[in-house]
Amino acid sequence: MVLSDDVSRFVRAAGPDHTDVQERMAAFAREHDFPNIGPESGAVLRLLARLTDADTVFEFGSGFGYSASWFLRGGAQRVILTEFDADELDKGREFLADAGLADRCVFEEGDAMETVERYDGPFDVVLIDHQKERYADAFHAARDKLAPGGVVAADNIMRGPIDFDALLAYLEGDAEALDHENDQTQGIADYLDAVRADDAFETTILPVGSGLAVSTRVE
Ligand SMILES: C[S@@+](CC[C@H](N)C(=O)[O-])C[C@H]1O[C@@H](n2cnc3c(N)ncnc32)[C@H](O)[C@@H]1O
Repeated sequence: MVLSDDVSRFVRAAGPDHTDVQERMAAFAREHDFPNIGPESGAVLRLLARLTDADTVFEFGSGFGYSASWFLRGGAQRVILTEFDADELDKGREFLADAGLADRCVFEEGDAMETVERYDGPFDVVLIDHQKERYADAFHAARDKLAPGGVVAADNIMRGPIDFDALLAYLEGDAEALDHENDQTQGIADYLDAVRADDAFETTILPVGSGLAVSTRVE
């Protein structure tokens, strides 16, 4: 448990309601046990799009478009969705068309790590929410394409297929804490090492949803 249930409930209750289509997306996620980013972190994505006045958002791992729908609610002019599951991406096309948002979406089927190579940027916001062991590679692939003042957000920093206690021990200086951990936990640690060591970025962790690392390009 990262946040108490009460704090999570408070953030959710005081946060924005789902639109009708987002409510259908959330129901679809529950029905299929699909890990979308959730409304607390969704509200942060909306905020990031709004604060950066986002022209272009790039997502690593879009599922059926739930996280994209929050960027679009924040006024993003264009969201590039990447997904290697064709059925999920089709479902995203359907949901976002129903919401009247599809004309601001680019749907890219395939490996996000290859898709990103076909874009020069600039990106105003990048969401990293695909394979945890590839987060650091995604950051390195996208960092030079971020606009100054642009933001990278990475999900599942504190919760998901990772060991919170082992990560905490590692961050507090126990170099051996991850020795027997899974690739996902190691992937999140590698990601945090990469963004925190990069002088062109300022990183903070927001303990909402599954935990977001937010890194702003300052150089
Ligand atoms: C946690 S879900 C993302 C959910 C989405 N961001 C949301 O909140 O609605 C991760 C998704 O990334 C996709 N994925 C994982 N690795 C990928 C890759 N290398 N390229 C494209 N999609 C990938 C998975 O199929 C899955 O749908």
